[in-house]
Amino acid sequence: MKELSKEEQMEIKYGHMTKMVERRMPGVRDPIIKKIHEHFGIVIFRRCSAPADFSERVFKDCFGGKKVKTILEIGTLNGITASVLTQYAEKVITMDIIDYAMKYEIWDKLGVSDKIEFRMVENELQKAKMISNMKFEFCYMDGDHLHHTWSDFMMVKKCGRVLLHEAILDGSQPNLLANSLPPEEIRFFNYGKKTSSLAYWSKE
Ligand SMILES: C[S@@+](CC[C@H](N)C(=O)[O-])C[C@H]1O[C@@H](n2cnc3c(N)ncnc32)[C@H](O)[C@@H]1O
Repeated sequence: MKELSKEEQMEIKYGHMTKMVERRMPGVRDPIIKKIHEHFGIVIFRRCSAPADFSERVFKDCFGGKKVKTILEIGTLNGITASVLTQYAEKVITMDIIDYAMKYEIWDKLGVSDKIEFRMVENELQKAKMISNMKFEFCYMDGDHLHHTWSDFMMVKKCGRVLLHEAILDGSQPNLLANSLPPEEIRFFNYGKKTSSLAYWSKE
């Protein structure tokens, strides 16, 4: 029997996921997402929270296309959303409890390394201290939704504009948080699959 290539094996292993991600990526226009897909394949999008139109639908709407100085992201993983965010800020600071190696390769390939600063989180107290010393105009909260949604929000809400991941999943902590905020300050972005939904809070 012919031995399967690595790509074919991946396709079998992740075929279901490929379809799922592709459903979330109809007619991708974001050049960053396109380039990542082109160079690293669909598998890299596993656990990534960015829907295909993350840029157009969320950021162009949120910022009216304007760039801000600094964006903070909690939850880096492979640095995909951090890369997308570089289009909307002069600098992106992204933090995680794990320093995944793949993100450096992705950032290098995209030529965005000098716009992104990675901060390793040792514990929540250190994270709180780091954030209290930072100035940023927007935060994408995509870390530990189960245990740290509320404490992360307390740390970052000073910026006045926070995007919450998984916010339409009934009973999820981001959902409870989003529903506890004044309705006129919250806007939901539903992507059909509730785990990949977003809510944008802005107090302007
Ligand atoms: C869904 S992934 C982030 C995906 C990434 N934003 C993207 O879409 O490209 C969530 C990440 O949060 C990180 N994380 C978990 N607990 C955390 C914490 N307490 N503070 C910061 N990051 C945390 C995990 O290690 C994981 O990499």
